[in-house]
Amino acid sequence: MTHNIKTGVLNGVATIEIARPEKKNALTQAMYTAMGDALRAATADNAVRSVLITGQPGVFTSGNDIEDFMQRPPGQGSDAADSPVFRFMRALIDCDKPVVAAVTGAAIGIGTTMLLHCDFVYVSDEARLAMPFVGLGLVPEFASSLLVPQLMGHRRAAEKLLLADPFTAEQAVECGIANAVLPSGEVLNHARRIAERFNHLPPGAVREAKQLMHASQRELVLDTIRTEGELFAKRLRSPEAMEAFQAFFQKRKPDFSKF
Ligand code: COA
Repeated sequence: MTHNIKTGVLNGVATIEIARPEKKNALTQAMYTAMGDALRAATADNAVRSVLITGQPGVFTSGNDIEDFMQRPPGQGSDAADSPVFRFMRALIDCDKPVVAAVTGAAIGIGTTMLLHCDFVYVSDEARLAMPFVGLGLVPEFASSLLVPQLMGHRRAAEKLLLADPFTAEQAVECGIANAVLPSGEVLNHARRIAERFNHLPPGAVREAKQLMHASQRELVLDTIRTEGELFAKRLRSPEAMEAFQAFFQKRKPDFSKF
């Protein structure tokens, strides 16, 4: 295990398990680095036919570690592309093998937006998903401002991105973010069974089919990530975000009335 990320390859499946349950699997920079490294290794390893990303019982990930947001915000301009979170995003987008997500519980922030870049998403019936960026004084990231409206239309995207409404596993399927809802005890095994099916399919054809499915939008997705990232980095340093982060740690509701 490196920095709360457990990795391993079993029966053709490279598993990346987020394992920081005491902080609801909040992702630190070191964890993004470990996940990005694991994705790049899986992409390069001929013995790997698919990738499985999972969390802990009851929580997939509560998103970016909010203390990290405050202490170590990702850089702006040319520095941004080298930051651990952007290197993780790029590694997920560049992975040309099928990526399966087993959403074992709460998926917040990047916990939901990373699902937009996975090929198969199975969600525990107990999971809640949310993209609460605006409520934190931030803007959407990981091309969610492009991909969420595309997936479900502007109106339903506005509920999730502007009002930051959380949504259930069933709603995630209904709006196209997930493939299926599974009982919490079965979601990981189901996702693994899907991932293992690629051991019986021709890897070259799978890889090229996945590349084709992304080809028309790839540059647009990367451009959107850059544009969002610039705004996001500025917003992380904004008084609105500071109020939201302090409120989180003080376990109170944020007060935006003064802005
Ligand atoms: N960053 C840093 N710490 C986090 C965290 C995050 N994203 N999510 C949870 N934690 C910490 C809490 O501060 C708490 O730490 P403590 O025990 O030292 O007080 C611990 O994890 C447990 O979290 P808690 O909020 O008590 O658990 P819960 O079951 O009541 O709620 C969540 C779980 C996931 C709903 C809630 O923690 C949450 O909303 N987290 C923030 C999500 C978020 O806004 N992420 C950023 C998206 S951009």
